[in-house]
Amino acid sequence: MATTNTQTLLLLPGDGIGPEVTEEARRVAAHVAPDLLIEEAFFGGVSYDNFGAPLTDKVMNRARNVDAILMGAVGGPKWDNVPRDKRPEAALLAMRKNLDVYANLRPAFCFPALAGASALKTELVEGLDILIVRELTSGVYFGQPKTIETLPNGERRGVDTQSYTTSEIRRVAARAFELARGRTGRTGKFPGVLSCEKSNVMDSGLLWRQEVTKLHAESFSDVKLDHMLADAAAMHLVKAPKDINVLLADNLFGDILSDEASMLTGSIGMLPSASLGDPGVPGLYEPVHGSAPDIAGKGIANPIAAILSLEMVMRWSLGRAEVADRIFAAVGKALEGGARTADIGGSMSTRQMADAILKYL
Ligand code: NAD
Ligand code: IPM
Ligand code: MN
Repeated sequence: MATTNTQTLLLLPGDGIGPEVTEEARRVAAHVAPDLLIEEAFFGGVSYDNFGAPLTDKVMNRARNVDAILMGAVGGPKWDNVPRDKRPEAALLAMRKNLDVYANLRPAFCFPALAGASALKTELVEGLDILIVRELTSGVYFGQPKTIETLPNGERRGVDTQSYTTSEIRRVAARAFELARGRTGRTGKFPGVLSCEKSNVMDSGLLWRQEVTKLHAESFSDVKLDHMLADAAAMHLVKAPKDINVLLADNLFGDILSDEASMLTGSIGMLPSASLGDPGVPGLYEPVHGSAPDIAGKGIANPIAAILSLEMVMRWSLGRAEVADRIFAAVGKALEGGARTADIGGSMSTRQMADAILKYL
């Protein structure tokens, strides 16, 4: 890589609908960035089936040395009973942790043509544009101890540990503040960063609120900062979602709130994500949705989350903002033209939806 300017994207289609939707993102990439080198590898359940491990050293090493990674989805009932450390989901957590991509950007944007497809009333979601910034490499997903143990009385006990350090909170909060600086002119109730935790019951939540407040005063006082308990934020997301600009949350609350926010945009099949670390670290991009075992193999999954994840690759890792803008505009035009997969009220196949987008590229 050091000797040429060629940019490389590592494509990890994964399981279930993963290969179906990433194939469409690959076609879009080939069209808008023909010079981009695309490598493909097994990841998740399909890697476990072939190599006995959901993430091999070879793939991990490759991931560290490309410009960006685009992942489809992993997991499914086939692997539900394999040991936890060999599960497809473990590969995803290991990939995130090893790359140290601590800031997970999950934009919930309601395309005008889809305002009527949301579970909420049109006027509540028309013009919706929220950016969720989810902490991705710490918290209860990774805290130790994490175990199921048998107690002396024969009962079993499951333990997960929520843990955050000062630096883990500060670095992701800094990202959220920086991103809010680029998203000005908001008129809602929370026009800057809305930081969500449970400081009323959790010590890690209290530390979160204290550190975010401190960092804000030190370096980001030009950005409006608000705090909200995470349960109240879940409520506010469906009551008045347009109040929110950048929503900052820890790993678990961010996971849940982003699935909730996806329904404001019409479908979870619409939500892309970018996971970013410090400068120089390859970004990891993936739809927010999973492998959707219930529709896998049918060719009906919505490829937009994957295609918009490619859009984020162009914007955040490859320095190709113009290409990203074109992809985003093409998705909007295809939707305006009536293109719809089943999840957003139509009957198009995955391929037809991608073709409708490619028509505008
Ligand atoms: P899911 O997101 O796979 O599916 C939830 C519902 O949304 C299903 O009804 C599904 O059909 C629908 N859906 C999801 N993506 C869609 C798309 N692109 N187009 C149309 N409909 C879509 O969540 P789940 O069922 O809870 O999880 C299934 C598996 O995926 C589990 O093994 C889980 O661990 C895994 N998972 C993986 C990721 C990931 O790889 N990033 C994310 C979430 C879940
Ligand atoms: C997501 C998924 C993952 C998570 C799972 C599959 C490990 O739900 O990316 O939102 O919980 O982070
Ligand atoms: Mn999730």
